Amino acid sequence: MAIKERIEDLLEQVEQMSASNADELEALRIKYLSKKGEITTLFNEFREVPADQKRELGQALNALRQKAETSINTMREQFEAQSAKADRLDLTRTPDPIELGTRHPLSLVREEIVDIFSRIGFTVAEGPEVEDDKHVYGLLNFAPEHPARDMQDTFFIEKEPGIQKPTDILLRSHTSSVQTRVMTTQKPPIRVLCPGRVYRNEAISARAHCFFHQVEGLYIDKNVSFADLKEALLYFAKEMFGADTQIRLRPSYFPFTEPSAEMDISCNICGGKGCSFCKGTGWVEILGCGMVDPNVLEACGIDSKVYSGYAFGMGVERIANLKYRVKDLRLFSENDIRFLRQFESC
Ligand code: PHE
Repeated sequence: MAIKERIEDLLEQVEQMSASNADELEALRIKYLSKKGEITTLFNEFREVPADQKRELGQALNALRQKAETSINTMREQFEAQSAKADRLDLTRTPDPIELGTRHPLSLVREEIVDIFSRIGFTVAEGPEVEDDKHVYGLLNFAPEHPARDMQDTFFIEKEPGIQKPTDILLRSHTSSVQTRVMTTQKPPIRVLCPGRVYRNEAISARAHCFFHQVEGLYIDKNVSFADLKEALLYFAKEMFGADTQIRLRPSYFPFTEPSAEMDISCNICGGKGCSFCKGTGWVEILGCGMVDPNVLEACGIDSKVYSGYAFGMGVERIANLKYRVKDLRLFSENDIRFLRQFESC
């Protein structure tokens, strides 16, 4: 083949050159441009080309070599850029995007309750979940055989594993135990809020669970009256459920308060007209409350002739149900992220 045709043939090959990695590229370089490469060989043969063709073929040959070099250099730069990128891979990094957690609806509601009461001077007090009988029942005016003791089906803790002996160690069934701890250790005026988890021996269903959460409140000072209680609770209901919310108090019974009441709010779902949620009554119960029984004050070392106080207690799940319309209590403790994600923007 004459040198001219070989140049054209190589030009065609060079135009179609491709390599999928650096090794293949090096093979191409060797094939065409190394000392014994096909293009270099043509340059060697060029010496024998007759003088009248030198100019034309020389230009074609130079163009061919230039094309091959440019193409190989471009591909080399691409491979180098890729491997530099690969070198920068940090395999210890957490994957993008980093998933943010969300706050639990019960935490959101608890924080809102605490926030509302903190604006009228309440501070948070906490206590143990594993408690003794004295703080959960004894100091709260439950007589030793008082039926109210089994009213709140209690989990007792075995003193020795497997051996059931009478025990006074139990899982608290209400956070009133924190109130007795505060009353026995602090002097009035006392204004505390007791949020926390409580346990009751109940079968788990959509409407009941063996643990749930409460926020209880206690205010003790001179001249605290039922009107003060009512005012604080009305303020709370309006802040929590909206300015149009109404409250009503129904007489009730708790061993530790006298008089005692249960508080309803106007149903925030139907606005008080009556719906399936409020069973057509227009009202939903949200908490228990009352004036601290003088027996409780005395048992805790507070002079009931000088001081009086009010207390209230509510279930956080109940408030969360009303706020977010959660139909099944179990959702709060199953940690299903499809449920929890819904509170992302709250
Ligand atoms: N401790 C009561 C309960 O768990 C709630 C309550 C607290 C009622 C304070 C009245 C006063 O049901």
